[in-house]
Amino acid sequence: MATKKDKARVERLRAVIRNYQHRYYVLDDPEVSDVEFDALWHELVALEEKDSELRSEDSPTVRVGGAPQDRFEKVQHPTQMLSLANAFGPDDMTAWNERVLRLLPSDTKLAWITEPKIDGLTVVLHYENGRFVLGATRGDGRVGEDVTANLRTIRSLPLRIPTTGRKKPPATLIVRGEVYLPRDDFTRFNAEQAAQGEKTYANPRNFAAGSLRQLDPTITAKRPLRLWAYQIISSSGLKLGSQWAALDALRELGFPVTPQSRRWESIDDVIAECASWAEEREALAYETDGLVIKVDAAGLQARLGAVGNAPRWAIAYKYPSSEVVTRLDRIGVNVGRTGVLMPYAELEPVEVGGVTVRNATLHNEDYIRDRDIRVGDRVVVKRAGEVIPQVLRALPELRTGEEVPFEMPASCPVCGEPARRLEGEAATYCVNSACPEQLVRLVEYFVSRGAMDIEGFGIKQAELFVADGLIADVADIFSLRADQLEDTDGYKQKRIDNLISAIEAAKDRAVARSLTALGIRGVGGVVAETLVDHFASVEALAAADVEALEAVDGIGPILAQSVVDWFASPHNRKVVEKLRAAGVCLAEEERSAAPEGETPLAGLTFVITGTLPNMSREQAGAHIKAAGGKVTSSVSKKTSYVLAGEAAGGKLEKAQKLDLAVIDEAGLLRLIAGD
Ligand code: IVH
Repeated sequence: MATKKDKARVERLRAVIRNYQHRYYVLDDPEVSDVEFDALWHELVALEEKDSELRSEDSPTVRVGGAPQDRFEKVQHPTQMLSLANAFGPDDMTAWNERVLRLLPSDTKLAWITEPKIDGLTVVLHYENGRFVLGATRGDGRVGEDVTANLRTIRSLPLRIPTTGRKKPPATLIVRGEVYLPRDDFTRFNAEQAAQGEKTYANPRNFAAGSLRQLDPTITAKRPLRLWAYQIISSSGLKLGSQWAALDALRELGFPVTPQSRRWESIDDVIAECASWAEEREALAYETDGLVIKVDAAGLQARLGAVGNAPRWAIAYKYPSSEVVTRLDRIGVNVGRTGVLMPYAELEPVEVGGVTVRNATLHNEDYIRDRDIRVGDRVVVKRAGEVIPQVLRALPELRTGEEVPFEMPASCPVCGEPARRLEGEAATYCVNSACPEQLVRLVEYFVSRGAMDIEGFGIKQAELFVADGLIADVADIFSLRADQLEDTDGYKQKRIDNLISAIEAAKDRAVARSLTALGIRGVGGVVAETLVDHFASVEALAAADVEALEAVDGIGPILAQSVVDWFASPHNRKVVEKLRAAGVCLAEEERSAAPEGETPLAGLTFVITGTLPNMSREQAGAHIKAAGGKVTSSVSKKTSYVLAGEAAGGKLEKAQKLDLAVIDEAGLLRLIAGD
């Protein structure tokens, strides 16, 4: 028989331990040292072992209980567990807000809560008289699985809601939250799993899901899972007028609530929070895939209701950039327009930010070697906005030993000619100028928007015409004839006419565009303009030596050499000759200088960098030239002004180092106006 004293001691120990665990796991603010905690813990375990009467289901010692199950029971949720609609930018947010406003009386004053969108697994937790009695996964939103035994093992999940002051816990309470795993724990645990030849997980979310769906709770107990609570589904007795009040109530009841939840009274502030969250979330100890925005007032939520399985009163703001882990199945090699061999990863398909990614760039040989990325590795892949997905790194701790290091092929994978790696460069090149793949890429670049801008001509046409033998170099584009295209699949008369006239129109493009289109390494739009400003014709440029080129403001030795090398190739000279013969504009007509008296920028050299608020860089360049100034691409002591916009990078830094004058768009307009 347990004595009264023992009973009281056990109750006391449990209360103290619960409090310490709450401080440790929920508030992240431990009150006692591990040694003190362990002493109390062992005392409690010893008492419970001594006498079955002293045992209790809700003791903190029985987080791991119950025998392994052979399946999970189904649980009907009290209401449908809704999901969220997504927003991918400020415009989506504005549209969402307008929809909300339309459904509410015009004088409604709204407030919003923003919460981290935790990348974990939804759970529904049932409490009766303060005791955790049932926990379920979301399942299909209506019926989930009973994972109570597994959930009990999560230390930050309250097994019992304390009676605070005179307040008793609500008789019934159902809470929704997210089970997740801190990033560090994920990495560490996965590494240990791999070392023991056990299953590893692609991301913390899969890990949480896999761990909660273990039939044996002792396995779940060994996994460092955590919980964030964010919604009160139902309760008896709690009066909650808003989401903000619900979060407060959850905290008070002992649930872990993300400290990053915030309340806002203006939609502009909400949208600003969405933007700044992109960075803030990176610094958190746990993964978030966005921000959840909720209309705060419970009354308004009820009024707004739901469509399908998503509430109208909440939305998930997601970021286009995210990282995932997947397997690198193979490393392939593409040939670029300059002949550069570009290794890329063939991946086990994986969803990143709503898009399925199958390939990702690996840049070059050094990139792969420096990061020791091997075929068969688990790799971290990032997709950021419009940028091509890239492999960031391998996870060597997850290796099985069967991974194979990559070797750059010794010959071009397309034409089979020997490949060459130039000294001091990370890139390997196919130096066969007749390589068909190189030609496709070159044609694609030649006709692209920033170059000759030929409408209706893209990579597909480039591939088609090269494969059909209609094009052997870029100049052949101008000798394409309607009758040759008639046999081409999908080409009807109208399409043929359009393409031929678009090609014809390209002959009159500015010289700088034609020069850009040649694809000389380092010669993009701005450099081409600098060169044309100086040499006026492609012919004059072809005749220039390194010295003459280097004398041009903004042209350094590497660029100068690259231009000379390009024109030194007989093949390239022949292409230029063919272009000229086809009637492509390769020389500037006499340029009329800006009229006398309207050259406030005469003798001044500008470098433009970053994003300007109102003009494109090209427009700014045109303004400068019209006012008699010059635009170059690189910053030097000879630069008079650096015109810097937002996100200006290295060029601005260099300008500051050289102590040059830096102006913004407004400053430029003042200069031109002569202020
Ligand atoms: S609220 C009606 N809040 O995101 C309420 N969900 O994409 C709907 N999630 O299934 C959910 N953090 O698993 C809400 N702070 C948060 C959340 C959150 C993560 C998850 C949840 C949901 C999914 C929707």
